[in-house]
Amino acid sequence: MAKLIVNVDHIATVRQARMITEPDPVTGAALAELAGCHGIIVHLREDRRHIQDRDVKILRQTIKTKLNLEMAAVANIIEIAKHVKPDMSCLVPEKREELTTEGGLDVAGQKEHISNAVRELKSSGITVSLFVDADDNQILASKEVGADYVEIHTGHYSDAKTRKEQDSEFKKIAKGVEYASSMGLRVNVGHGLNYRNTQRLVPIKEIEEFSIGHSIIARAVLVGIDQAVREMLEIVQ
Ligand code: PXP
Repeated sequence: MAKLIVNVDHIATVRQARMITEPDPVTGAALAELAGCHGIIVHLREDRRHIQDRDVKILRQTIKTKLNLEMAAVANIIEIAKHVKPDMSCLVPEKREELTTEGGLDVAGQKEHISNAVRELKSSGITVSLFVDADDNQILASKEVGADYVEIHTGHYSDAKTRKEQDSEFKKIAKGVEYASSMGLRVNVGHGLNYRNTQRLVPIKEIEEFSIGHSIIARAVLVGIDQAVREMLEIVQ
C-alpha cells in the first residue's frame, strides 16, 4: 500500500507571514502523524521563506515516522542535511523568484554536480531521491548518478485544464514510473496533488510515496489537520 507523506511547509508560510512563532509546523507535523500519515516532508529553501533551520532540527528529534527533506543541491544545504540526517533527501531545482517548485531537476544536464551531491548525502546514510519530470532522459540520468528514488513531478498532470490534457499527462507519469521501476529505481510522486486528482494515480502499484502539501494544509485551515490528513489517507490507500 502506498504511503502518504505530508508536507507541512505552508504551516510555516502562515507563521512567517507575521514572523512570529505560530502556527508551528512542528506541532502540525505531530498532529499529522497522529492522524496516521507515514512521514513528514519539509523544504528548507535557501531563502528560508517558510521552513527555518530550527524547524528541521526539532522535527528530526520529534518525528516518529520518517522525515524527508526537500532541498536544493547546494553546499550549505547539503551540510545541514548531513548534520540533521533526514531519512530521505529529495533534491529539487530552486529559484528565488518561483512561487513553488516549477519543474523537475535537470539531472541529465548537470550529472557531475548531482552525482557529487548524491554521493555526499548517501555517505551520511541518507537515502536520496531526485525530483524529475516523467522524462526517460532524466530518469536514466537519475539512475546513472546513483539515486535511490525518483520523485516523478505531477505538477503538469495537476495543472491540466481539460480531461484530454490530464489523460496525456497521466500517461506520461504512468510510463515514467514504469521506466524508473524497470531500471531498479524506487518511485515517489508529488506536486499539486489534491483531493480530486490523486485517486487516479493510486492504482499505479510501483508508487511508494505520495508527497502532498498544499491541498492538505489548505483543507486543514478549514476542517482541521486531523480530518484533512485522514481524508487524504483514505484516498491514497
Ligand atoms: N514534491 C516536491 C518535490 C515539491 O517541491 C513539493 C512542493 O513543495 C511537493 C512535492 C508538494 O507539492 P504540493 O504542496 O503542491 O502538494
